Amino acid sequence: MNIALIGATGLVGRKIISVLNERGLLKKNNLVLYASPKSGGTTIKVGRSCFLVSALSPQTIQGVDVAIFSAGKTTAKKYAPLFAKRGAFVIDNSSAFRRSQKAVLIVPEINPEQISVQTKIIANPNCSTIGLVLILREIEKLARIKRVVVSTYQAVSGAGKLGLDDLAHKTAKKFNYPISNNLIPQIDVMLKNGNTFEEDKMIYETQRILGKRINLSATCVRVPIKNCHSESINIELAKPVSIPRIKKALLSAPGISLTDFPMPLIADNQDNVIVGRIRKDYSTKNAINLFISFDNLRKGAATNAVQILEILQSRFF
Ligand SMILES: NC(=O)c1ccc[n+]([C@@H]2O[C@H](COP(=O)([O-])OP(=O)(O)OC[C@H]3O[C@@H](n4cnc5c(N)ncnc54)[C@H](OP(=O)(O)O)[C@@H]3O)[C@@H](O)[C@H]2O)c1
Repeated sequence: MNIALIGATGLVGRKIISVLNERGLLKKNNLVLYASPKSGGTTIKVGRSCFLVSALSPQTIQGVDVAIFSAGKTTAKKYAPLFAKRGAFVIDNSSAFRRSQKAVLIVPEINPEQISVQTKIIANPNCSTIGLVLILREIEKLARIKRVVVSTYQAVSGAGKLGLDDLAHKTAKKFNYPISNNLIPQIDVMLKNGNTFEEDKMIYETQRILGKRINLSATCVRVPIKNCHSESINIELAKPVSIPRIKKALLSAPGISLTDFPMPLIADNQDNVIVGRIRKDYSTKNAINLFISFDNLRKGAATNAVQILEILQSRFF
């Protein structure tokens, strides 16, 4: 398979290359790397191999089977349709196509059947949403979910290289406020409805992936942690389910690991979403609380995208 990676020099792009390598996909396929003109001509080393990075332009798009985009929504909107028009499947990490009915929004453990040869553009969901839906999907099998209240604690790597720079250098260039020694209860732009766009993404995307209307309220907060997002999740169910049953279901679910205290230090560089603090919420009927930590660059982006690539490879190549 000929794979193009657009945004190869970014945090997600570099993680995608690592995940492709770990899963033996670099040996079996041909990989070409693209980034912005400023990175054209640079190289990325993986083991003993060295890959050249080219500046992306409409002329460079030739003979690609799958194009993985991790270069923001402006680049995705401009270039993804060009790749698709020339026959490539596109897997996009940005928010450019997540609400498009011409694209599908995929978490491989949940809705892989929606990938078809006709749907050329496959959107990778928002990182915070991926962690959340993996858990909700297992709980929903036990009892109907009436309402979810989620608060996120999102690492600066979620905002790319510039987010890491703001934390390291105590600047406020990527974020509107200093993140060092601080928390910022705003991720992405403010909307007229009072939510941030990140919070609206979690609400819309959760419903789209799970294929049902779920009452969900989200508060998304940037925290001064380098990597790994965490979420405090309160779930109200339509009927009682015991905590041991919930733990058993989560323990046997793909992509999920259980521990007492999920933390970024445990989740870092892991593919699984780590869940713990699973307990009853005594303030109301049939409600539970739990806490998750997961690597936003892995399952929140790179691993999910590579799992989608593996599905494409097994079905169409
Ligand atoms: N970080 C996360 O946890 C996360 C999670 C889920 C989804 N995402 C999404 O993944 C994408 C990448 O995020 P990131 O964190 O890796 O950001 P990043 O570290 O800032 O990297 C951005 C990448 O995009 C490239 N790029 C920028 N403009 C370009 C252009 N005109 N043409 C081609 N390439 C261009 C950059 O190339 P240069 O190095 O040459 O500038 C770089 O490789 C974003 O859409 C983001 O929303 C990120």
